[in-house]
Amino acid sequence: MVDARHGPASDEASPHTVPELATPRLLLRAWRDEDLAPFAAINADARVARHLPRTLTRDESDTLAGLIRQSFARHGVGLWAVERTDLDARPFIGFIGLSIPRFEAHFTPCVELGWRLAPEHWGLGLATEGARVAARHAFEGVGLDAVVAFTVPANAPSRRVMEKIGMRHDPSEDFDHPALPEGDALRRHVLYRLDRARARAAALIG
Ligand SMILES: CC(C)(COP(=O)(O)OP(=O)(O)OC[C@H]1O[C@@H](n2cnc3c(N)ncnc32)[C@H](O)[C@@H]1OP(=O)(O)O)[C@@H](O)C(=O)NCCC(=O)NCCS
Repeated sequence: MVDARHGPASDEASPHTVPELATPRLLLRAWRDEDLAPFAAINADARVARHLPRTLTRDESDTLAGLIRQSFARHGVGLWAVERTDLDARPFIGFIGLSIPRFEAHFTPCVELGWRLAPEHWGLGLATEGARVAARHAFEGVGLDAVVAFTVPANAPSRRVMEKIGMRHDPSEDFDHPALPEGDALRRHVLYRLDRARARAAALIG
């Protein structure tokens, strides 16, 4: 299972299977090849990239999906493909889940909660619904004691999701993202944390 301190034990394909998590409206599941086209459309959308460095090309989007699939295989955790089960077409709408940041910062090594959904599905509480079950899995399935999330200060929807699932922001922990150059408008990030006590208080876990 995951060990954010030591990283992958091996580059070989591992026996980890991808757990499926269901909520009233969502299925968080393993990625399929047919997710790649709708995922590329999400990553090419300027609205989605508003608080991210830039939109992605089809190739870059496919590469990102490949890295996400690798994370499940290597670490047993990852960003799940999200399907809407309350709609007949059961569309793929983006990702929600866990990832292991590869940069070094004052809060690494750690496991991060993340989300990216197609704009047609925003504002319905879906990211929060999926994030809650992903966080519960981090504590009860993986056995982690804490998770973090981070974004740029201006990303109000993402920060709201963090707050709604019970995460706590301590401004003294805000940081400059080491992957972005000095002077970059997106370099400053806010850090949110969720530990078991907070997760219990937010009724994420029993
Ligand atoms: C962040 C994201 C996943 C949220 O998805 P979502 O399903 O719309 O989220 P939810 O509906 O669960 O919650 C969004 C909350 O943000 C609020 N919100 C939306 N736009 C807002 C704004 N401009 N200012 C303040 N709050 C805002 C909503 O009202 C809602 O809060 P509420 O339930 O208290 O009303 C989605 O906006 C997204 O994919 N963004 C692009 C990718 C991204 O930035 N990912 C995060 C990178 S760290």
